[in-house]
Amino acid sequence: MSSRTSDVLVIGGGIIGLVTAWRAAQRGLSTAVVDPEPGGGAAQVAAGMLAAVTELHHGEQRLLGLNLASARRYPDFAAELTELTGLDLGYRRCGTLAVALDADDRAHLRELHALQHRSGLESEWLSGRECRRLEPLLAPGVRGGLRVDGDHQIDPRRLSAALVAACERAGVVFHRVWAERFDVAGDRAAGVTASDGCVLRAGQVVLAAGSLSGRLAGLPEDLLPPVRPVKGQVVRLAVPERYAPFLSRTVRAVVRGSHVYLVPRENGELVVGATSEELGWDTTVTAGGVYQLLRDAHELVPGITELPLTETRAGLRPGSPDNAPLLGPTGLDGLLLATGHYRNGVLLTPVTGDALAHALTTGELPEEARPFTLKRFSTALTEQPV
Ligand code: GLY
Repeated sequence: MSSRTSDVLVIGGGIIGLVTAWRAAQRGLSTAVVDPEPGGGAAQVAAGMLAAVTELHHGEQRLLGLNLASARRYPDFAAELTELTGLDLGYRRCGTLAVALDADDRAHLRELHALQHRSGLESEWLSGRECRRLEPLLAPGVRGGLRVDGDHQIDPRRLSAALVAACERAGVVFHRVWAERFDVAGDRAAGVTASDGCVLRAGQVVLAAGSLSGRLAGLPEDLLPPVRPVKGQVVRLAVPERYAPFLSRTVRAVVRGSHVYLVPRENGELVVGATSEELGWDTTVTAGGVYQLLRDAHELVPGITELPLTETRAGLRPGSPDNAPLLGPTGLDGLLLATGHYRNGVLLTPVTGDALAHALTTGELPEEARPFTLKRFSTALTEQPV
């Protein structure tokens, strides 16, 4: 049985694991990633909205701070990755328009606008006519909307590929196998035993396995992150040259209680997402899921029915009990978490990489990431009123 050793071992090669490995290697730590398919994972399905403002929810003010910190980093982060790898990330500073189709949706959007205002965020209320002036293909029934010029997009598949390339350039070693069992030695994290029998050892181990993070064998029960899979179905359409520009920014809405968004890429792809389903590990694309997305998207932008349908796919978001990620050191020396990013994995990629690299080199999270350790859940339990 062979054995490999590094300063840092990252379990999981999705965008969160990759950015952690890249930033750690940049700081001079010898770093390895264990994943059968680095660059895979939820980012292969995600639409890539960087939607700190339009995805604001009541009770998530702390998460908003982290989301905004990451959004601010995006221009430099994308430029650095592109310069280093020569790869275009599809980073598009196009803004977002959230619209309402009926009185209920309009009330919901008004409420969101008020919350954004109270939170010091920039958004502008538009009439239906003003919305259509911005996006002429919107349905005549659109009754109003919120223009958010600060919510942009990136292509998560390109981001994944660039992070793999950046890791390779920084000397990160990829073990293209499954982490089968987490190993503890004495009172420290030791590494993992891989599916090929190889023993991977490291001074520090980062668990960044997305929705799989909550079920790694060998991890002590009290350290298992409370992460669950939340299924999202997404369809991709293609905008032929003759219809361009179809939409000039991300358009989204809540239709009869379900979120729908249309994310137009510069290369003509139009991503329509996403369902949100608590169905465990199921990744079946269903007729019902695709029907719901296309029906709701069609109510917003009737012209989508003309477009070729190029792909249907389902992925699993790593959901956490409070919708915020789990970051940094745990109760076990040498074990850190970078998981549970739920709906914000793409947005939170830059800040997660920086926060984890800081924690790996200093032992502490930077200020903005401190509220997001695993400890918040055990503290919440002991603080329950009796
Ligand atoms: N952030 C978009 C989604 O999770 O569907």
